[in-house]
Amino acid sequence: MTGPTPATATGLLAEIDTVGRYPTRSGYRRHVFDRAELELREWFVAAAEHRDLAVRCDRNGNLWAWWGEPGPDAIVTGSHLDSVPGGGAFDGPLGVVSALAAVDSLRASGFTPAKPLAIVVFAEEEGGRFGVPCLGSRLLSGAIDPDAARRLHDPEGVTFAEAAVEAGLDPARIGRDDEALAAIGTFVELHVEQGKGLIDLGTPVGVASSILAHGRWRFSFAGEGNHAGATLLGDRRDPMVPAAEMVLATRIAAAEAPDARATVGRLVPNPGGTNVIASTVDVWLDARAGDDATTRQVIERIRDMATEAADREDCTLTVTEESYGDTVHFDATLRDQVAAALGGVPALPTGAGHDAGILAAHVPTAMVFVRNPTGISHAPEEYAEPADCEAGVAALATVLGKLAG
Ligand code: GLV
Ligand code: MN
Ligand code: MN
Repeated sequence: MTGPTPATATGLLAEIDTVGRYPTRSGYRRHVFDRAELELREWFVAAAEHRDLAVRCDRNGNLWAWWGEPGPDAIVTGSHLDSVPGGGAFDGPLGVVSALAAVDSLRASGFTPAKPLAIVVFAEEEGGRFGVPCLGSRLLSGAIDPDAARRLHDPEGVTFAEAAVEAGLDPARIGRDDEALAAIGTFVELHVEQGKGLIDLGTPVGVASSILAHGRWRFSFAGEGNHAGATLLGDRRDPMVPAAEMVLATRIAAAEAPDARATVGRLVPNPGGTNVIASTVDVWLDARAGDDATTRQVIERIRDMATEAADREDCTLTVTEESYGDTVHFDATLRDQVAAALGGVPALPTGAGHDAGILAAHVPTAMVFVRNPTGISHAPEEYAEPADCEAGVAALATVLGKLAG
């Protein structure tokens, strides 16, 4: 059948523009299973059903909208709807709306897929609520132990298991989903570019070549809570001091290693009072580099410097790895096939993580990037021009048509 008049990516993004606005800066707060993300899920289900796609939620909370009978060997596209705190409008949603618009465009052209085609919305891609990025695709593919996932908790202490129940899932059933995995013949994720690669190349669309190795660690410094006025400097065991040194160590270690990035974006003192020497400080480290060895070298260097700083203040330090993923090199044959289908667009690496990177260990996977004229992401300034968004939709429709035709 032919569908309704093809939607545009920009038009679809406008439909969700007001959902989950971030309260203290512009941008969005859309964390998995919170009110905003649930509203976006409902919006997606309605948009998919409006297109006669059959929607189901898998046991890990990922939504699937099927054009044709589910798998095997399906062509799957999609992305995520959750955001980082204060995130932009495009990271995740652009891939979802482009998938819907690409289906419209294929339908309008009279295309009927020879293979099943699905749009997937992965849960908790950012790890913005439970700390582990790509949680939905990691669970589905068996890249995280379901017990460990059930125990993850958000800053309010709500466990992933509890949040899953609230969202209508059975937490006992989360984990590797061989049926869902076997259904995916090929996965193609369209995403806004999160750097300046396509600006420099002067082209609206490109394909991904690789993703940096990437891990997250929690550094927990423990000292002695005390009074900010009554405690002499020599009597203090203030965990904020080694925590601050660790932040600086992060920059030093990253600068020493080739093409490494290391970031502290979250630091939580407990209890957190202006006139209170904290008892503990948790610092989250995000570190990335071109290969496993360099990433490990960066984190070990930071750990060494943080341990020395903790010793100097008579504090203790516990380091916990919360997630890790080695470098991803996308399937070269598929990458070249996609690039050729798009008229020979360039391939470029990315420092950002994606569900496509998790699935790449299991199925041929490709990514299509859309130019971001600001080069900024995970911030409200993230952007894609309407014309570039539609170039992305056209590119995705071309690729899906080729793969599913
Ligand atoms: C997600 O976008 C990440 O790279 O952290
Ligand atoms: Mn993303
Ligand atoms: Mn992101």
